[in-house]
Amino acid sequence: MDIREVGVIGLGTMGAGIAEVFARGGLAVTAVEADAAALDRGMAALNGSLARAVSRGRLSGDEQARIAARVSPGTALGSLAGADLVVEVVPERLAIKRQVLADLDRICRPDAVIATNTSSLSVTAIAAGSARPGRVVGMHFFNPAPVMALVEVVTTVLTDQAVAQAVTDLARHLGKTPVRVADRAGFVANALLLPYLNHAVRLLETGYATREDIDAAATVGIGLPMGPLALLDLIGLDTSLAILEVLDREFGGTRCTPAPLLRRLAAAGRTGRKGGGGFYDYPPPASATGGSPDGDNADQHLPPGTVTLIDGGEAADDGDGAGSELAGLIAAAGVNLTRNPVHASDLVVVATGPAGGVLGPALAAARAADAVGLHLVTPSLAELVTTPLASAAALASARALLARLGLRVVRCPDRPGLLVGALLYPHLRDAVVMVADGYASPADVDAAMTLGCGYPRGPMRLLAEAGPRQAVGVLAAMHAGYGDPAFAPPPLLTEFAAAGLALGR
Ligand code: CAA
Repeated sequence: MDIREVGVIGLGTMGAGIAEVFARGGLAVTAVEADAAALDRGMAALNGSLARAVSRGRLSGDEQARIAARVSPGTALGSLAGADLVVEVVPERLAIKRQVLADLDRICRPDAVIATNTSSLSVTAIAAGSARPGRVVGMHFFNPAPVMALVEVVTTVLTDQAVAQAVTDLARHLGKTPVRVADRAGFVANALLLPYLNHAVRLLETGYATREDIDAAATVGIGLPMGPLALLDLIGLDTSLAILEVLDREFGGTRCTPAPLLRRLAAAGRTGRKGGGGFYDYPPPASATGGSPDGDNADQHLPPGTVTLIDGGEAADDGDGAGSELAGLIAAAGVNLTRNPVHASDLVVVATGPAGGVLGPALAAARAADAVGLHLVTPSLAELVTTPLASAAALASARALLARLGLRVVRCPDRPGLLVGALLYPHLRDAVVMVADGYASPADVDAAMTLGCGYPRGPMRLLAEAGPRQAVGVLAAMHAGYGDPAFAPPPLLTEFAAAGLALGR
C-alpha cells in the first residue's frame, strides 16, 4: 500500500502538529478545518512550529519552505477525494467523528485508509459507523506531535491487517516508533498516564502538597520531563477529563474517577495552555518564582545549631542508608549532630523511608513538637515530612537546614508513600496490572512511556531500579493506610518481589 497523499481533518493542538509531521516526512498534506478562522489558527500554529525549528537551527530556510509548500489548507472535505490516507483529529465526540467518517465514505476512494487520532473513544465504535470498517485504524500521536516519537497503531477486530501494516510502516517512515495495540480504553500510554495525573490533582485538591512541590516531586524526584500538573495543562484539562471519563467507565476505581478539581477547572474554561491557564497561567506572570509558597520560609530562620537524628520505623526499607547519608550530609554542613534523643538539640530529624512513619519515633523521643521527618529521595531532593504536632519553628528550622545542605525540598504529610512514592508506586502498579492483564508486554509499556511521554526510563525499568520489594512495601503501606484497593500490591508484583526478580528483565 503506497501512502503519498494524506488528509488531516482538524487543525487544533494535535492536528496542526500531525500535519507538520506528515509534511516533514515528504507527504503531500491536505489540511482541512471547519471554517476560515480555525484554519488560520491551525496554519499559524504549524508555520510557527516550523519557524521555531529554523530559529533553533534545526531546519534550514529552504527546508522550511519545502515543508510548508507540501501543505494545502482548505475548508472543503471534498479536497480529500485523492487522499491515500485521511487522519481525523476532530473533537472527541462520537457523533462528530461518525459524521466525518460518513462524509469520507462518500468522498474518498474505496481503497483509502481512514485513521482516527482519538485518545478517548473506542476505535471500534468509530469504525463501526463507516461503510469500510476494515480500512479504519487508530493512529494515535502524542503532544507535541512533532517531538514525541510514539504512534500507537490501534486495530479493532474489524481492521484489515494490511491496513494496520501500512499505517505501521508509514509511522516508521515518519521517524516515529509504532506500537501495535488492541482497542481498549486509553490504549497503553493514556491508560497509564491519566490515572497518575488524576492522582496528582487529588493530592493538590486535598492540600497534601503544593502545585510546585507535586511537579518537582515528578521532575526532580522521578526524573520525568514535566510535572503532572504542568503536563495536564499541555494536554488540555478538557481532553484529560474526557479520557478519564472513558477510563472510569471501563475500569472504574479511584485512579480513574476524575478528581472534582479537574472537572471544576475544565468547566470554568481553565483548559490549560490552549485556554490561557489551567493549573498555571500562560504565559507565566513575570513575578512567578517557582518557589514553594507554604509559609515556612527558610530565609528568615537560622539553621539549627544541633540536630538529633533518629531512624524512623520505616527507614529500614531504604536500609540504614537513609539515616547514615543524612548524618553525613548534616555533619559535612558543619551542624552538630547527636543520635541520642535526650541530648539537648534545636531540631529532631526522623530519617524515614518512602513509606513514611515519622510520628511514632517523634512521640517515642518525647520531642514531637521539635521533630520533622526527612527522606532523601535523590542526592538533590529531600521530602520534608510534617506531622500534626510539628511546630512552625521546627519546620522553618528544617527548611533552613535543608537550604544549608543545598537540597531541593518538597513538603508532604506523614502518610504512606510520602509525595514521590505516592505518585510513583501506584503508577508502576498500574503498569504491572496492564502487563498482568496481557494487554501489553513490559517492553511495549516502557516504549510507550519513554517515546510517548518522554520518560527517561519506562515504568518497568523504574520498578526494577526501585526494586519490587520496595514497591510492594510502599503499596502495602498505602493500601493499609487508605483502604483503597487501587493501592493493593498486585499478585504479579508480589510474586516478583518474593522471587527477587524484575519484570521484563
Ligand atoms: N511543537 C514543536 N516542537 C516543540 C514543541 C511544540 N509544541 N514543544 C517543544 N518542541 C521542541 C523544541 O523545538 C525542541 O526541539 P529542538 O531540541 O530540536 O530545538 C524540543 O522540542 C525540546 O523543547 P524545549 O527545549 O523547549 O523544552 P523541553 O526540553 O522542556 O521539552 C517537551 C519539551 C518535549 C514537551 C518535554 O517537556 C516532554 O517530553 N514533555 C512530556 C510531554 C508528554 O508527556 N506528552 C504526551 C502527553 S499525552 C498525549 O499527548 C496523548 C493524548 O492523547 C492526550
